[in-house]
Amino acid sequence: MAWAITGSGHFLKESLELARRLPDVDLFLSRAGEEILSMYDIKLTDLRQQFRIFRDNTASSAPVGLFYHGEYHSVVLAPATSNTVAKCALGISDSLPTNIFAQAGKCRLPAIVFACDTEPEVATESPSEWVTLYPREVDLMHARTLATFSNVQVVGSPQALEHAIQAHLAQLALSPPAAG
Ligand SMILES: Cc1cc2nc3c(=O)[nH]c(=O)nc-3n(C[C@H](O)[C@H](O)[C@H](O)COP(=O)(O)O)c2cc1C
Repeated sequence: MAWAITGSGHFLKESLELARRLPDVDLFLSRAGEEILSMYDIKLTDLRQQFRIFRDNTASSAPVGLFYHGEYHSVVLAPATSNTVAKCALGISDSLPTNIFAQAGKCRLPAIVFACDTEPEVATESPSEWVTLYPREVDLMHARTLATFSNVQVVGSPQALEHAIQAHLAQLALSPPAAG
């Protein structure tokens, strides 16, 4: 599974905790995602113990080539900033997470997006304290737009994310082999 981490503090720890419980996850970081991990005291060296990690350090998002070799059965963006959600909804691919989302669509792979902004009011954890934020209508609109994409599921809580991933993995295990 290809899993993108964007620059969101909102449910960052919960998303990573879920990723840790899954086998064979590769992490794809946005540049902001890499900064945020450090702000929340999560070290890349520790993550590398479990995950293969791709950093956003090429203009062409070179690691997306892995999608052409059938390395992944699905893509998860969790947590997904309002910035990344907006770009995905508009078809813009200019970061590693937005590129793997686009490749999922072009390779007809399912994508699950844990959007930070799906409710008009959210309690979120900054590096130092809890704060209440009020996502704008434009943020909510992009999340709604993304939910209309085929093969894309948008979720708004860690519980819904876990449920969506569980259901997806169960479905994969039950799928009969493709006809030869
Ligand atoms: C401490 C911190 C926490 C942040 N948390 C969020 C968040 O929860 N949701 C969000 O949409 N943006 C958040 N941001 C802002 C994003 O990191 C910023 O919009 C960035 O450009 C997103 O880039 P990306 O979508 O490519 O990862 C946060 C920024 C900081 C410094």
